[in-house]
Amino acid sequence: LLVNASDAAGRPIPDKLFGIFFEEINHAGAGGLWAELVSNRGFEAGGLHTPSNIDPWSIIGDESSIIVSTDLSSCFQRNKVALQMEVLCDDNGPSICPSGGVGIYNPGFWGMNIEQGKTYKVVLYMRSSGSVNVSVSLTGSNGSQVLASSNLISDSSVVNNWTKMEVMLEAEGSNSNSRLQLTTTTKGVIWFDQVSAMPTDTYEGHGFRTDLMEMLVGLKPRFIRFPGGCFVEGEWLRDAFRWKETVGPWEERPGHFGDVWMYWTDEGLGYFEFLQLAEDLGAAPVWVINNGISHQDEVDPSDIFPFVQEMLDSIEFARGDPDSTWGSVRAAMGHPEPFNLKYVAIGNEDCGKTNYRANYLRFYYALRRTHPDIQVISNCDGSSTPLDHPADLYDFHIYTSAKNMFSMNNRFAKTPRNGPKAFVSEYAVTGTDAGRGSLLAALAEAAFLIGLEKNSDVVALASYAPLFENVNDKRWNPDAIVFNSSQVYGTPSYWMQRFFTQSSGATLLSSSFLTNSSSSLVASAISWQDLQNNSSYITIKIVNFGSDYVNLKLFLDGLDPTSVQLTGSKQTVLTSPNVMDENSLDNPQKVVPVPKGFEYTGSDTGIVLQPHSFTSFDLQK
Ligand code: AHR
Repeated sequence: LLVNASDAAGRPIPDKLFGIFFEEINHAGAGGLWAELVSNRGFEAGGLHTPSNIDPWSIIGDESSIIVSTDLSSCFQRNKVALQMEVLCDDNGPSICPSGGVGIYNPGFWGMNIEQGKTYKVVLYMRSSGSVNVSVSLTGSNGSQVLASSNLISDSSVVNNWTKMEVMLEAEGSNSNSRLQLTTTTKGVIWFDQVSAMPTDTYEGHGFRTDLMEMLVGLKPRFIRFPGGCFVEGEWLRDAFRWKETVGPWEERPGHFGDVWMYWTDEGLGYFEFLQLAEDLGAAPVWVINNGISHQDEVDPSDIFPFVQEMLDSIEFARGDPDSTWGSVRAAMGHPEPFNLKYVAIGNEDCGKTNYRANYLRFYYALRRTHPDIQVISNCDGSSTPLDHPADLYDFHIYTSAKNMFSMNNRFAKTPRNGPKAFVSEYAVTGTDAGRGSLLAALAEAAFLIGLEKNSDVVALASYAPLFENVNDKRWNPDAIVFNSSQVYGTPSYWMQRFFTQSSGATLLSSSFLTNSSSSLVASAISWQDLQNNSSYITIKIVNFGSDYVNLKLFLDGLDPTSVQLTGSKQTVLTSPNVMDENSLDNPQKVVPVPKGFEYTGSDTGIVLQPHSFTSFDLQK
């Protein structure tokens, strides 16, 4: 492999080439990245009707001691359902309550992960018919192991008055399958609403689950596209994502049932939190707006204006003056500074829909007129033929077999070099080649990404999809980061992406195989600076998609081997004995990158590529 090591002969790679796509799918956010432990905290998941389905809340006690129902008496206007608990027993009366009291419990999202020594903040709203004691506790899954507990006394202020109560619970034990209990031994009627339990050690104190955030930080994403995907569209518009219902105090957010991925979200992770997430990751937010088109219904162009206004309001929320109508809502949420929103995608996968183009133009021109610095992303693919409408970027999605994905490493070579750039916002190997996240899939995707690096004069942004999966609600296969309440692992596709963390903003060097080149090999070379350590590197990445060892000579034209520092140079290999090998909760490190020594000695440097492998060679200059 011959690499021209001269930066001057190279080409800059866009500084946001590799990022992430966060969709509320597979409980990625609710019961995932958003660290809220209570599921259905406002009792709204069964709909705004009563009697309501309060799942996954359950009752402690039988009908002789407690009657639980729902009514519409909440103090919150947009989520009126409240839980009513009529307690029939009383430890101070003739009918003593069962040991431990009666009440309700919430097992969270398939069990809460409670860890010894950590503190959990419980907030709830309560009103009662008389003075009562309520015990708030974190317990094991059957209630017998008490991990933390505190008493709430409902004094006269709570009698007939909705009152916000807060307790801090420090866990004295650990259990990854815990639950939150609200119990009492006092006769009377108690109403609860908006019950939240959050660990106090969330990432930057912003509500994100720390272990999952660390996986994202490891990807060094330069942008984050959110919040979907189909999640934005909805199967029907009535169940689409509506940003205004996800901002402001969490207690007042109505939540919604996402009818594509078929689950309820309380929307703790709302539009504001997505912007905060982007900021915490140092990633540019890419906001996918609801463009009035769902899977099943579409708004007519003549009626689209309210949706256009909704988009403009969302931009004012993100970056408007703190005194503006929507900027003031952001400021009240604790972020008076504007968020750095520069990318807006008009819908998701809607190009083929009847009204897409006509509606798109209305969104596009409204943005151009009001926010000319915003990059507008069309859903129509401009990679083969030019778009028939104006755009800064166009969306490109690809889910395919490993063989196809590998062969697509040349996909953008024939794309017209002028015009809007590609945003490969969803790519992944799917189907049988993918297993539940196989090495084979990762290798094919690596070849595809190398192709994107090489064609990054026409590809500006790229992200894998989907990003997260809670194992208890797998709606899509495969997904890059897999977790349950206490564990997390990356699939080979996740680890493959970490080989590209230095690419955004680097310089692409020209590289070519000279002799004996095999059609199973795909390679690229970049040079980049590590500003923190004030050092510079050349990184060469090679995919060997074949099942044989490959011996190569590596030569960097223009690089004096004596200037390469041995200590800072290494090779890293992602491979496994079986190409269908994958990671799992039981074996999370089966297929992960392994560092190895490497010495560059000039034109005689021999390298050996393992079968079915992805190798990167880092040379510190
Ligand atoms: O990534 C999963 C889904 O695939 C996305 O929601 C959608 O955009 C695509 O069809």
